[in-house]
Amino acid sequence: MNQNYQYVNSSSTGLGAAIEKNAARSRRSKLIVLASVIGLLGIIGIAVGVGVSVSQKNKSSTSSSSSSPGGSSNSDNTPKQTDPNDPSSFVKDSRFHKAFYGMAYTPEGSLLPDCGNSLDSVIKDIQILSQLTSRVRLYGADCNQTALVLEAIKQTKVDMQVYVGNYPVPNDDGVYTRQRDIIRDAITTYGTDHIAGITVGNEFMLNYLTSNGATDPNGSVGAQGAAMLVRYIKDTRDMLASMNLPKTIPVGNSDAGSFFSTEVLSNVDYGLSNVHAWFANTTANDAAGWVSNFFQETNVQPASLLPNNPKMYIAETGWPSKSSDVANANNGASDASEANLQIFLDTFVCQANENGTAYFYFELFDEEWKDKQFGGVEGWWGLFNKDRSLKNIKLPTCTAP
Ligand SMILES: *[C@@H]1O[C@H](CO)[C@@H](O)[C@H](O)[C@H]1NC(C)=O
Ligand SMILES: *[C@@H]1O[C@H](CO)[C@@H](O)[C@H](O)[C@H]1NC(C)=O
Ligand SMILES: *[C@@H]1O[C@H](CO)[C@@H](O)[C@H](O)[C@H]1NC(C)=O
Ligand SMILES: *[C@@H]1O[C@H](CO)[C@@H](O)[C@H](O)[C@H]1NC(C)=O
Repeated sequence: MNQNYQYVNSSSTGLGAAIEKNAARSRRSKLIVLASVIGLLGIIGIAVGVGVSVSQKNKSSTSSSSSSPGGSSNSDNTPKQTDPNDPSSFVKDSRFHKAFYGMAYTPEGSLLPDCGNSLDSVIKDIQILSQLTSRVRLYGADCNQTALVLEAIKQTKVDMQVYVGNYPVPNDDGVYTRQRDIIRDAITTYGTDHIAGITVGNEFMLNYLTSNGATDPNGSVGAQGAAMLVRYIKDTRDMLASMNLPKTIPVGNSDAGSFFSTEVLSNVDYGLSNVHAWFANTTANDAAGWVSNFFQETNVQPASLLPNNPKMYIAETGWPSKSSDVANANNGASDASEANLQIFLDTFVCQANENGTAYFYFELFDEEWKDKQFGGVEGWWGLFNKDRSLKNIKLPTCTAP
C-alpha cells in the first residue's frame, strides 16, 4: 500500500518489522511490527505522535457549522450551558455515557511554534470528554496544554483524572526540561487532585531505534535510547520529590506495543502501549480479540515478570471511519468505515471494562492536521468529527470502572 514500507528482519526472535519512514517527520514515523507467534500478526502503528496538535492559528473550532440542521443555538455541536458564564452548567447529552476507561486527547493547536489552543476550546472538549470517561491522557506539555486542561477541569467541576505527558525527543535535553518545567508549574498552580500520572516519553524508543536503523529495544542501540529516557524518568521523580506533594504521583512511559525496553519498564510505575488492530490487517470483527491477545502477550505478561511490576495500559486503540485515499480504504480485511468503527466499539469497550483492561480509546475527535500531513486513515480515528458532531455511531452504554 505504500512504497515507503521497508521490511527488515529482526534478530533471533523471528519478528519482522515493516517500517515506514516519513522523511518529513522522523519523530512521527510509523512503525509496524509483525509478530508471528501462533499466526498472530502484531502490529503497532500510528506513531503519528499526536503529542502535539496542529497549528491552526485562527481556527477556533467553535466557529462554523452550517451543517447542523435546525439551526438551533447548539449548531456548533458544543454543550449548551444554562449559565453562559459558568462552564460547569453544561447540559448533558443523552447519547453519551461514561463507558470508556480512558480517552486519548490532545487539545487542538498544541504544537510549537504556532500553538493556537485556547481555554474556551479546551473547556468545550472537557465538557464532552467528562460525559464519556473519567480519565484522559495527554501526550506532551507544550503550548501550556497541561494548565489549560487542569483549568478546564476546575471550571467545569468534572470528575476527571489526567495522565499528563512530557514528549521528549532524543539528544535534545531542552525539549524534556521545557516540558518538565511546564508540568511543575501546572502542579504548583492546580495541585495534584486531578493528576493520575506523568507519562515521560511517547514512542521515544520507536523513534530512537528507527532513526538509528535498529529494531530491538533490548539491544545495544536500544540501551542507548533507554539510558536517555531513564535519565528523564528519574529526573521527573526527583522533581516530584522536591515538591513535597501530598501524594505520590506515578511516573510512566508510553510506546508502540512492541517497543518496550526491559530497562525502561523496570524504571516506571506504568506503561502505556499502542495496540492497533487496523495495522495488523485484522477484520473489524476480530479486532477486539486481537487487541486483547496482543496486549496480554506482548505487554502485560512481560511486565508482570519484572520486580517493579509496572501497571500496563493500552495507550491507544481504535478503528478509523474513513480514508482520504483509495489505497488505505481497506486494510486487506475490512474497510475504514463508521459501520466497522461501530463493530469495534460494540466488541471492545464494555468487554475490556469487564476484563479489567485499562485502556485509552483512540480518539475523541478527528484531527485535521494529521489528515493534511499524513493522508490515508491517519486523520479519521475520532468518535466525533472535527466539528464535535458525533459520527454516525451509537456510543456504548455500559459504565466503565
Ligand atoms: C496557561 O493556562 C492557564 C490556564 O488557562 C493560564 O492561567 C496561564 O496564564 C497560561 N500560561 C501561559 C504562559 O499562557
Ligand atoms: C475479554 O476476555 C475474553 C476471555 O479471555 C477474551 O476472549 C476477549 O478477547 C477479551 N476482550 C477484550 C476486549 O479484552
Ligand atoms: C525485551 O526483553 C524482555 C525480557 O526478556 C522480553 O519479555 C521482551 O519481549 C523483549 N522485547 C522485545 C521487543 O523483544
Ligand atoms: C495489510 O494490507 C495491505 C493492503 O492489502 C498490504 O499492503 C499490507 O502489506 C498488509 N500489511 C500487513 C502487515 O500484512
